[in-house]
Amino acid sequence: MKPTTSPKTYKVKSFGCQMNVYDGERMAEMLGEQGIVPAPEGEDADLVVLNTCHIREKAAEKVYSDIGRISKAGAEAGKQPLIAVAGCVAQAEGEEIMARAPAVSMVVGPQAYHRLPEMLDKAVKGERATDTDMPAIAKFAALPERRRTAPASFLTVQEGCDKFCTYCVVPYTRGAEISRPYSDLVTEAKKLVDAGAKEITLLGQNVSAWSGENEKGHPVGLAGLIRDLAKVDGLARIRYTTSHPADMDDELIAAHGEIDKLMPFLHLPVQAGSDRVLKAMNRSHTAESYLKLLDGFRAARPDLALSGDFIVGFPGETDAEFEETLALVDEVGYAQAFSFKYSPRPGTPAATMDGQVPKVVMDERLQRLQAALNRDQLAFNKNTVGRGCEVLVERKGKHPGQWLGKSPWLQSVWFEGRAQIGDLVQVDLVEAGPNSLAGKLREAVAA
Ligand code: SAH
Ligand code: SF4
Ligand code: F3S
Repeated sequence: MKPTTSPKTYKVKSFGCQMNVYDGERMAEMLGEQGIVPAPEGEDADLVVLNTCHIREKAAEKVYSDIGRISKAGAEAGKQPLIAVAGCVAQAEGEEIMARAPAVSMVVGPQAYHRLPEMLDKAVKGERATDTDMPAIAKFAALPERRRTAPASFLTVQEGCDKFCTYCVVPYTRGAEISRPYSDLVTEAKKLVDAGAKEITLLGQNVSAWSGENEKGHPVGLAGLIRDLAKVDGLARIRYTTSHPADMDDELIAAHGEIDKLMPFLHLPVQAGSDRVLKAMNRSHTAESYLKLLDGFRAARPDLALSGDFIVGFPGETDAEFEETLALVDEVGYAQAFSFKYSPRPGTPAATMDGQVPKVVMDERLQRLQAALNRDQLAFNKNTVGRGCEVLVERKGKHPGQWLGKSPWLQSVWFEGRAQIGDLVQVDLVEAGPNSLAGKLREAVAA
């Protein structure tokens, strides 16, 4: 590869989960420290970071088509950008990317991206570099301070997963579970608030497994962390995601009834309604234990909005077992949910299991499941019509004078009137659609 000049502009494109969004922001901050600025909207960047996701086949394939598109555009413009592949595909397929895509000069895994600036120095000299180490010391200490952020921000508190669900790549791409230290999190949360955050979503692949020691040296779990973050002045809302049913303790359930700033929303993936399938997935819960857990949360916070993840067509799933998923959905009444066709991932136990389900069967099951989930989402939204609630304004709407934000139940709400991004406003919910609600602005409250 030819030596090139130092990049002046960058673009970070993040795919996949919210943790990738967080990582993408942190990489952008690091590049900013190097004096590289975001490429203006619609213009090509000198450096493109593809922050990738490996969770399903389609997500991973996107990387190669994106690389192809970027280098074709570069060739047409007579100037090839530097391309870095980061994220979970980088971790899982680093060598393959280097072999298959000569246009890529940097491959950096999710635990190594603090080394991006060094790699960039090499790339500028024409050297290609791969770093997919998973160092025991966390990358976080090497990242610059938080200076700018959105009203609704993410904060990674826990990373990695030890659960090894048989279909999932995350334990391989993100490594073993680690919890970031309590004091670092309190510090970062305060910085985010100083930088404009009103809401913080605590992130982890298995966030409810977070544990640490508070400033007095006492052990604390996620509930204790939330309790202490709720004391941060200027922080109005706290959320957390994603939890595993096995790590939800009574203190966290109680927190939902006791901490006003903890929003009435819980994303708790179940994956399937059949106990046989759940066992084959190596999920450590049953349909019944999951439902019982939800009862506890709903008792603590009756207006709790529930969200989940589902996989249809796990190897060996029969029609009758899929019906059990539909029955569970009917029983829970989710406010929203994500549902996916099973995708065999290289290196995971389920990929070589007997009874791989034909695509047509998966398509049909996904359609039926999504119809049920959409029905429940609309019902949930309609049920909130007539209520007043606080909305955090996150961006401008399509039309002049229109604003978009989130309700406490994580619904998208649009309304018209005097407001600005970052305001917490009181809105009456007047009309519900499947994906958003219309609100009427009541009065501005102190933001
Ligand atoms: N850490 C989170 C998220 C994992 S990935 C958690 O444990 O819930 C998000 C969702 O993707 C999972 O909950 C699961 O529903 C889905 N998923 C993971 N691997 C998959 C696969 N191989 N095929 C289809 N969906 C998958
Ligand atoms: Fe993947 Fe299971 Fe871990 Fe979630 S809990 S990240 S689905 S292995
Ligand atoms: Fe995807 Fe990695 Fe997140 S595989 S879902 S980006 S943890």
